[in-house]
Amino acid sequence: MTTRTDAGQKPIADHVDRTPILEVRDLEVHLRAPGGRRTVRAVDGASLALHAGEITALVGESGSGKTTIARVLSLVYKPTGGSLLYDGKPVKYGHRAERAYYSNVQLIFQDPFASLNALKKVSYILGRALRIHRIASGPRAVRAKVLELLGLVNLTPGESFVDRYPTDMSGGQRQRIAIARSLAMNPRVLLADEPTSMLDASIRIGVLNLLDRLRREHQLAVLYITHDIASARYLADRVNVMFGGKIVEYGDAEDVIANPKHPYTRQLISAAPDPARYKGSGHEIITDISDASPIDNTVEYMGCRFAARCPVALPKCTTQQPPYFVSGTRATACWRAEDDPSFSETTPQSTATHSGAGDEATPPSQKEHVSHDSTE
Ligand SMILES: Nc1ncnc2c1ncn2[C@@H]1O[C@H](COP(=O)(O)OP(=O)(O)O)[C@@H](O)[C@H]1O
Ligand code: SF4
Ligand SMILES: [Mg+2]
Repeated sequence: MTTRTDAGQKPIADHVDRTPILEVRDLEVHLRAPGGRRTVRAVDGASLALHAGEITALVGESGSGKTTIARVLSLVYKPTGGSLLYDGKPVKYGHRAERAYYSNVQLIFQDPFASLNALKKVSYILGRALRIHRIASGPRAVRAKVLELLGLVNLTPGESFVDRYPTDMSGGQRQRIAIARSLAMNPRVLLADEPTSMLDASIRIGVLNLLDRLRREHQLAVLYITHDIASARYLADRVNVMFGGKIVEYGDAEDVIANPKHPYTRQLISAAPDPARYKGSGHEIITDISDASPIDNTVEYMGCRFAARCPVALPKCTTQQPPYFVSGTRATACWRAEDDPSFSETTPQSTATHSGAGDEATPPSQKEHVSHDSTE
């Protein structure tokens, strides 16, 4: 089976038989709520796989657990349940292992203003990343590589950017520098957590197109996190819709968005005036249903978490958690799919426990700085 995306021309091969580069299985991240006593079930059973050359979107409203998944994938949090696999093997923690991991898995932050050191020139920011990861040494080699990185992110001619400070640059240019820095060590995976949400609408599309080009030319596996399902349709091959710590629907982006099965996915799409309009327009399309009340993720739900907001809830929805109903490479966690002959029920995936997992995830305080800012 092959499929196409809005953004691209490249047919995307079915990846059923390929080992993902990065994967979480039955991920659970329970965090201590601020103030101490209660446990926040930030992620409560989510599986996700990233493949070379593919863009996988993770879409959902604020508070649904998207960034928590990115933090697990970037080793900021240890899962409290489930597993994190790199090339099919459990990920190891500890300084040496993490260093090797970060040379392959890089995070692009939401805020390009905070993620770059405003007091340093571009030449320093990119040159430092190259030196730390021993990609280049010596002033000439480093400069040549810096110019190459600037070319990769379409900041050309590179000579006119190397001696500039982030403060002299637009948000879009800064985000490109942040992306260039992530590319310095030739990673296999880019984790992009709302990479355009703080940029002007007019320049968002350019950054999305850059991500699309990078995965094609460098076979990068990209996780694109967004609250904007229209941009996911534009960019991604696969989409995972997240609600209340769970992935409630996933599949080929075009299939899911053209023919959503989960009522929450339908709500996200109907909040977008016309998802197709995103294509090439450069205009922001707001699909955030932010006025909807978020669920209380400090309680354990017997049934479907979406039940209180669901317009088509059944009596059993509040008492029985819906399993995944699967059709080919797509699935929905909704009882309404039970009567759909093209979907069949699956048993839940076996839960592999993660080594080092405790009752609650490692708080961010100590680890946040270990991550990708180490190149700053
Ligand atoms: N460090 C933390 N401690 C306690 N709760 C947290 C922490 N980080 C996130 N949360 C909670 O976890 C849930 C998911 O948050 P997050 O992953 O940031 O969602 P999203 O990125 O989808 O907006 C939210 O309820 C949030 O308040
Ligand atoms: S399982 Fe029930 S409550 Fe949940 S989304 Fe489906 S119909 Fe709505
Ligand atoms: Mg977030």
